[in-house]
Amino acid sequence: MSETPWTIRLLETAEEMTAVEDLQRIVWPGSETDITPAHLLVTVAHNGGVVLGAFVEDELVGFVFGFPGLEMLPDGPQPKHCSHQLGVHPEWRNSGLGFALKRAQWQMVRKQGLTHITWTYDPLLSRNAYLNIAKLGAVCNTYLRSVYGAMRDGLNAGLPSDRFQVDWWVTSKRVERRLSRQSRRRLGLDHFLQADSQVLYRTERTPGGLLRPPERFAPLEGRIALVEIPSDFLSLKEADFALARDWRFFSREVFETAFEKGYLVTDFVFERSEEGGRSFYVLTHGESTLGDAE
Ligand SMILES: CC(C)(COP(=O)(O)OP(=O)(O)OC[C@H]1O[C@@H](n2cnc3c(N)ncnc32)[C@H](O)[C@@H]1OP(=O)(O)O)[C@@H](O)C(=O)NCCC(=O)NCCS
Repeated sequence: MSETPWTIRLLETAEEMTAVEDLQRIVWPGSETDITPAHLLVTVAHNGGVVLGAFVEDELVGFVFGFPGLEMLPDGPQPKHCSHQLGVHPEWRNSGLGFALKRAQWQMVRKQGLTHITWTYDPLLSRNAYLNIAKLGAVCNTYLRSVYGAMRDGLNAGLPSDRFQVDWWVTSKRVERRLSRQSRRRLGLDHFLQADSQVLYRTERTPGGLLRPPERFAPLEGRIALVEIPSDFLSLKEADFALARDWRFFSREVFETAFEKGYLVTDFVFERSEEGGRSFYVLTHGESTLGDAE
């Protein structure tokens, strides 16, 4: 008997890809044109791409999909894996399935001899940030403005589609340690405050209890900087769209400034509380994007 309620395997057939289409409609509801179609998924799977599905009994409850790509560097193009979508059925979230799918992707891509995986995500989504940065050990110093234009699906509609593009150095010690069965000690805010981190700004709450960004942030000067974001941006957006826009433009300025000055996102802290929790990016100055590579 397996330890988890799900089984993860490679997907290849048109029938399996149609199930991936259906799951996308649940994860990103409302916009048929934002669904990756089955024919493209089949083509990707038959040409070096990796489409993995997680099943509970016969039901597809999660998937991850990516394809080989090239990174254009000054010395010429370098091969990488471009991960495009990760989705977990709402009923199966927060049970480690997103992590398990990325772990399976990590294994497959390493077998292909690649060392680098990139993907994008909305930096204001705290759960995604926690998974990508804290649990998987990806790092980031690339901010892309409105990279997908105006998106229409239920998660993304209305705001510029700004994204972090993260680097996942799949053979680095950083990543191997984070993916080892023995999970790492969860680092809290105190840990970073004791390490003399610079808190870039203080947030306040609206009368309705929503987190509000300040007018400005301090000049970046510490080796480690802490950048707070809302712990549930999607609910905040639903409750107060203007506030969500403020967060998009404020955080855009913070991250673009920090990346220009040589900071790298290396960790993420999420502390649960009765109001839902507090979430902070940890930015480090003077670390290579490879982290502690082999
Ligand atoms: C993002 C997504 C794939 C994550 O899948 P998942 O199965 O919930 O992920 P996991 O359970 O492996 O990891 C989530 C972690 O975030 C933590 N978490 C939950 N809410 C959080 C929050 N508000 N802030 C920070 N972390 C949070 C969970 O506790 C868990 O950590 P733990 O295992 O240490 O407890 C899933 O939420 C999803 O499908 N979202 C919609 C689509 C999407 O955004 N896809 C990614 C971009 S393409």
